[in-house]
Amino acid sequence: MLKTVLSVGALALASALVVNVYAQDEAPPTPAELASGATETRQAVFKLLGFNMAPISRMARGAMEFDAEMAERNALRIADLAPMIPEVFAVYDTREFDVETEALPVIWDNNADFAQKATELRAAAITFAEIASGGDRNTTIAAIRAFGSTCGNCHREYRVD
Ligand code: HEC
Repeated sequence: MLKTVLSVGALALASALVVNVYAQDEAPPTPAELASGATETRQAVFKLLGFNMAPISRMARGAMEFDAEMAERNALRIADLAPMIPEVFAVYDTREFDVETEALPVIWDNNADFAQKATELRAAAITFAEIASGGDRNTTIAAIRAFGSTCGNCHREYRVD
């Protein structure tokens, strides 16, 4: 009898623990967690943009050998990433949260202009990829400034200096 009571009690305790763990897993993220998650995601997009742009910039400075294939490939990657910029900002408005960010709050007041800057980056990346695909060193190097300026155009207005 006592044994039965104990095992029933143990079973109840065990299922309570399971339910509790389950409930914790299922608990929706808090707004603060959503805000920091959204911030990490958007910074990951920018890290990838930087990763792909870096060798192109090095080439422009003469710090790296001319490589038309890399230039075309990386520019096309940037063209694909660009539309994700407004998407990751639309996921969550983090203005009210204490997140580590260089994104200026005014982004969420100027969604259309911010998205337009990402569209300009995409267009410039595609144009640059086309030029690089021609394989000519001088024309490709000369086109880097116009391409890179579309990064700076957005940073100037929307990123902490
Ligand atoms: C439409 C606007 C926009 C465009 C276009 C843009 N950026 Fe940014 N970038 C930002 C903003 C805003 C931040 C700050 C994000 C944050 O801290 O939450 C940022 C941050 C960054 C960071 C820092 C990421 C980190 O947290 O480590 C890098 C690197 C970067 N951008 C590179 C680039 C490059 C390279 C390009 C062009 C190929 C580019 N960005 C184009 C708006 C833009």
